[in-house]
Amino acid sequence: MKGISAIILAAGQGKRMKSALPKVAHPVLGKPLVWHAAAAARAAGIKDMVFVLGFGRDKILPTVEEFGGRVAIQESQFGTGDAVRCGLAELPAGAKEVVVLCGDAPQIRPATIRALLAVRRRKGAVASVLTGVLDDPGGYGRIVRHADGTVARIVEEKDADEATRKLREVNSGTYAFDRAFLERGLPRLSDVNAQREFYLTDLVLEALAQGKRVVPIVSGDPDEVRGINSRRELAEATRILRKRKLEALMDSGVTIVDPDRTYVETEVRIGPDSVLEPGIMLTGSTRVGRGVRIQTGCVVQDCVIEDGVQLKPYSVLASSRVRKNAIVGPFSHLRPLADIGEEAHIGNFVEVKKSRIGKGSKANHLAYLGDATVGKKVNVGAGTITCNYDGISKYPTVLGDGVFVGSDTMLVAPVTVGKGALIGAGSTITRDVPPYALALERAEQRVLEYWVARKKPELLRKSGLTVPSARKMKGGK
Ligand code: UD1
Ligand code: CA
Repeated sequence: MKGISAIILAAGQGKRMKSALPKVAHPVLGKPLVWHAAAAARAAGIKDMVFVLGFGRDKILPTVEEFGGRVAIQESQFGTGDAVRCGLAELPAGAKEVVVLCGDAPQIRPATIRALLAVRRRKGAVASVLTGVLDDPGGYGRIVRHADGTVARIVEEKDADEATRKLREVNSGTYAFDRAFLERGLPRLSDVNAQREFYLTDLVLEALAQGKRVVPIVSGDPDEVRGINSRRELAEATRILRKRKLEALMDSGVTIVDPDRTYVETEVRIGPDSVLEPGIMLTGSTRVGRGVRIQTGCVVQDCVIEDGVQLKPYSVLASSRVRKNAIVGPFSHLRPLADIGEEAHIGNFVEVKKSRIGKGSKANHLAYLGDATVGKKVNVGAGTITCNYDGISKYPTVLGDGVFVGSDTMLVAPVTVGKGALIGAGSTITRDVPPYALALERAEQRVLEYWVARKKPELLRKSGLTVPSARKMKGGK
């Protein structure tokens, strides 16, 4: 939308968080509080954004960058009115309307921002304000209305008398303004109040003095207006936004068996007909395709999980890709840059790091594959380990198509095994193996006839076995 800018207030410390981190940088569903406010503005169609920063500003700059916003610095926090005044100085000339958002209010919805803009224009008002009716209005500014329902003023709790404190309609701190009104009104605010701050909310009085109006919109969802001031409220916001995220996923065709026990972060995308079983965490930029089944205990961070994949219980995956119809787990560990091919199987207690596993290959039990390139239809036996590290550098292992690696094999990298080759169980492979060859590295097996009976007969007796007679051991019947 052209001609509309957002000013996002994010300069305060948030003392009640008891944190070295500025309040608005605390994450909810994997993203800072202020990110959620900015994302709502962006989703409402607002491109141009100014972030008012002060305390701990470097912790907020990544969010500013992500939205291509500009920064206005408010060195000392003299109140929300002063903060908007700082933001105004950074607005482009073309901005005629300004949406003000609190960086600590992550639950605001894009549709509500659009409604605030629309209602202000329709009513020809200088401002519109989002309000909400709360059962517990403590701490918020109260909306005082005239008998005809129009807004008379907004009174901060600390300045409110007994009767005003009883009002349950509160100010969300989200507004749409006519820019010209802001520019005229802000310099006239005073800080004669309980907190000695310049209150943005006093612009309601300024509007009335000019014979203009401020129109309220009452949110249908009281949670939407809540600002976060404490760790408790942070957890509450996480609960609410998590529920909203899961409901959106269910509406788009994802089955969530037990939403109360499922954690999916904001930016995670999941295709239809996927099933999330209880007790899982999907975080960061994770993308999940269609028809994927993710079972209990899985923790998946920044991964791409393609269509038809099954993640069996208690698998931990980070920054990896699992291609179509592959099966991972139970108890698998994919570390960064694992790339599991189509229809491949990675089984229990298998760790894969920075390795490409080809289509249809299997590593089903107890293995470590690091810095490996594994071809198609390879069988990696139980207990196989790529010895990829000599204490100083990492080295690659290459297994060609159709290679069969017997159990308990050490592949001492750098090493290449040609296609179709077979490695005998228990081998330590230190040299390249040509295609189609058998490689075997083992001491010859020795068998000492009747050794146990002769030297350790007590072992046999202990197990209830009869010790063979001397005649039998000599070779008689
Ligand atoms: C403000 C409103 C109150 C409303 C509440 C909703 C005013 C005077 N009061 O109160 O009516 O019910 O929000 O949550 O506007 N900030 C700055 N610079 C400042 C002061 C604040 O950037 O100088 C930022 C904060 O970082 C925060 C946001 O503005 O993100 C809200 O500030 P906060 O101090 O939490 O406002 P409240 O006292 O809660
Ligand atoms: Ca305050």
